[in-house]
Amino acid sequence: MKIFLDTADIEEIRTVARWGVLDGVTTNPSLFAKTSGSSYEEVLQEITKITSGPVSAEVVAEDVEGMLNEGRAFAKLAPNIVVKVPMSEEGLEAMSTFAEEGIKTNCTLIFTANQGLLAAKAGASLLSPFVGRLDDINQDGMIVIRELVEIVAIHELETEVLAASIRTPVHMTQAALAGAHVATLPFKVLQQMVHHPLTDKGIKQFRADWDKTREALAEQSQQKKQEVAAAPTQPGS
Ligand code: G3P
Repeated sequence: MKIFLDTADIEEIRTVARWGVLDGVTTNPSLFAKTSGSSYEEVLQEITKITSGPVSAEVVAEDVEGMLNEGRAFAKLAPNIVVKVPMSEEGLEAMSTFAEEGIKTNCTLIFTANQGLLAAKAGASLLSPFVGRLDDINQDGMIVIRELVEIVAIHELETEVLAASIRTPVHMTQAALAGAHVATLPFKVLQQMVHHPLTDKGIKQFRADWDKTREALAEQSQQKKQEVAAAPTQPGS
């Protein structure tokens, strides 16, 4: 299962790349809005230097021509850019044109298996159902992941299900068990996955025991040295 980081924060991406668990990055206008200083294009280029995995860049235009113009410009930035297109009638048309042009797409804002099926038919290489936002409105977001994974398998569709809007480590486990090909996570959720109170406590305990043993050994060897120095020397030696 691939793990993408859902962020436009360069430092977070560098950190997870160093951990060796980064397979790609997803961004969107809301995530970019949290960064400062550089243009979206500059941020995307920086990200593509950190990971060779897919980097999703989202279009904001709502008409086909606008989506195509934005997406084509993104695709020129680096070979691993994937154009993120929202699920809509215009989005489907844009995705099928991108597919003809050999530009990879990630269909975003999917909330039903049917939307995902249509995006797959239009040629999207990634399908992004939003788990957390369905949970927010009292629906089980994981159902869409399970349904889409099954549909993709039954019909051998050439696409991958990317569990998005993941809010908790429990979501991640459920998405993995449901067979999601990819999950994109905020940095905070990845950190939560790393830690467990018993792991952190265990690390501290091992360190404390180690330090205590080393101190005791050092004391013993000091005592021995003092005993040897204090021992009376044998006559003639
Ligand atoms: O990948 C989509 C994600 O950024 C949306 O997450 O938490 O805003 O629903 P959220």
